[in-house]
Amino acid sequence: MKKDLLSLKELTPEDISYIFELAQNLKVGIGEFEKPLTGRSVGLIFQKPSNRTRVSFEVGIYQLGGNAIYLGPEDIKLGIREAIKDVARVHSRYLDGIIARTFAHKDIVSLAKHSTIPVLNGLSDSYHPCQALSDIFTIKEKLGKLANVTLSYVGDGNNVLHSLMYAAALVGMDLRFATPRGYEPDKDVVEDAKKLAEATKATVNYSDSPEEAVRGADVVYTDVWASMGQEGEHDKRVNDFKDYQINEKLFAKAKKEALFMHCLPVHRGEEVVNAVIDGPNSVVIDQAENRLHVQKALLVVYVGGKRRYDK
Ligand code: CP
Ligand code: NVA
Repeated sequence: MKKDLLSLKELTPEDISYIFELAQNLKVGIGEFEKPLTGRSVGLIFQKPSNRTRVSFEVGIYQLGGNAIYLGPEDIKLGIREAIKDVARVHSRYLDGIIARTFAHKDIVSLAKHSTIPVLNGLSDSYHPCQALSDIFTIKEKLGKLANVTLSYVGDGNNVLHSLMYAAALVGMDLRFATPRGYEPDKDVVEDAKKLAEATKATVNYSDSPEEAVRGADVVYTDVWASMGQEGEHDKRVNDFKDYQINEKLFAKAKKEALFMHCLPVHRGEEVVNAVIDGPNSVVIDQAENRLHVQKALLVVYVGGKRRYDK
């Protein structure tokens, strides 16, 4: 396995199985007593706000015996007060790992390149790998399988969709996504996901019709229409995305028992109505809980030295 977790493309299906097995054990309390992060410190370099990612990583690090140091936008001023390269080299002498949340994905890539310690992506404008891994773990937990499961994403072609595409392709799911024209995901990411899918028999398909994407789906997923950093485009986006709202009528086109998922935070009444996100099929809080268990597994693997090596 590579030193860093930046997008998910660097993982294999076997790596993901290993991470999920560890996460499941940690969730039921197996392995935690070993405190694999004892004496280790992990820095959280965040350029954007966060609730789930920050709290679940800090709690996870604590539960594994380590020490978390939160460095918010005003603390480091990454790339402004100091070059990323210098932050990376200095932190490599103090810390045992970095969780980074940045605007530009290239900033995380640069942190990783200049660090000798592992760097995990806690969200960039391009990817949200810890989220997607936790989402797929949640789907497996709820449905008992991943093969032949249809995951339908409706909304913006953003960081969350990019990572879901890689994750779904790696575990052999059928991913359908519907975005308005002009808000499609990055073409290179779609192409890469399709390549990953060849090896696992997964499928990755676009539609500009939300109804078509959702029809008969096992899981319906959406995210905010304006991500962090796009606040100025909010009103235009609300108009452009109005036919892509997950409301009761659209959700009814999925399987009766379909799961509703959202990474949170949610803009209620925009991308999803209350009746769906608060309805009986919504698993958004379980999904948020699983961030803790899956990220603890990632910490054990990347920072605690329990990596999986191919034979
Ligand atoms: N889902 C997620 O990453 O939430 P936060 O932005 O609150 O960390
Ligand atoms: N796409 C959203 C995800 C937040 C967890 C954003 O980047 O703001």
